[in-house]
Amino acid sequence: MIIRDGTVAARVARSRLAGALMSPRGGVSDEELRAAVAGRTVLVTGASYGLGAATARMLADAGATVLMTARTASALAEVADGRGHCYPADLSDPDAVGALAARVLAEHGPPDVVVSNAGKSIRRTLAASRFHDFQRTAAVNYLGPVRLLLDLLPAMRERGSGHLVNVSTIGVLVPPGPRWAAYQASKTAFDVFFRSAAMEAAADGVTATSIYMGLIRTRMSAPTASLANAPGQTPDEAARVVARAIVKRPGKISPWWADLAELGSAVSRRPWEAAVKWRPRT
Ligand SMILES: NC(=O)c1ccc[n+]([C@@H]2O[C@H](COP(=O)([O-])OP(=O)(O)OC[C@H]3O[C@@H](n4cnc5c(N)ncnc54)[C@H](OP(=O)(O)O)[C@@H]3O)[C@@H](O)[C@H]2O)c1
Repeated sequence: MIIRDGTVAARVARSRLAGALMSPRGGVSDEELRAAVAGRTVLVTGASYGLGAATARMLADAGATVLMTARTASALAEVADGRGHCYPADLSDPDAVGALAARVLAEHGPPDVVVSNAGKSIRRTLAASRFHDFQRTAAVNYLGPVRLLLDLLPAMRERGSGHLVNVSTIGVLVPPGPRWAAYQASKTAFDVFFRSAAMEAAADGVTATSIYMGLIRTRMSAPTASLANAPGQTPDEAARVVARAIVKRPGKISPWWADLAELGSAVSRRPWEAAVKWRPRT
């Protein structure tokens, strides 16, 4: 449903209260975050824009040694502002990811925390899609992050400590929707990999948190007009959710209604699919 801009309903939906109600919560103090990360090494992928940039700034403010990666070197340098270490790399290039992991390990040792945040979203009908759309979402949202963890995890497990954070989406927990095939499938693939890997890594003292984010107002969500008035978080608010993952280290963080949606989707697959039955021409 699109709520017209400027109406009372639109203002209510856009309000901070609605965003807070529909999104996973943060709720850790600056002191708690500082105690968890000061002097520690935190690698943040996708740190050039959006949530990753807000997370990198928040962690640097809290005294962490922040290792930042993304493709856009100039944006990384701007976010770092002289405080972090920038590693420009393209996650969709396996050799570049291998080189990134090798440099991080050689220059800093195994990271204390890895925030796997970089992502690419495509919202497009199948009719308008090319195979390339599925290749590039899989490369950035699934295979690149898999390669990075495969290369970093052995040293973290050998040390016997560390924490992994996967910035996933609530789209992984709710039933699939039309136009989201590439994005939802690639995020779901990494979610399954991550949860499985977390069980193995836990045996060696490495913990992991899957965060199922709601809407965040970034350049990723901006092109989707139907989300313009939906309740969401600013990048800084969403970064506080990442802070909770790092401080409290729960296995899962999601909005309060996610469990109900998961339960509902298990029992209502047919009604849901009937409700969204939709035959786009393009
Ligand atoms: N926005 C939302 O509503 C929303 C909702 C739920 C979950 N999420 C998730 O939140 C995370 C952050 O998204 P965002 O909203 O902050 O998006 P964003 O503003 O578009 O930022 C995406 C980040 O990923 C990096 N990235 C993209 N392709 C890359 C590649 N090939 N190699 C290396 N880095 C790459 C980008 O940097 P470069 O372009 O410089 O490479 C950028 O730093 C994503 O995992 C997304 O799936 C977002």
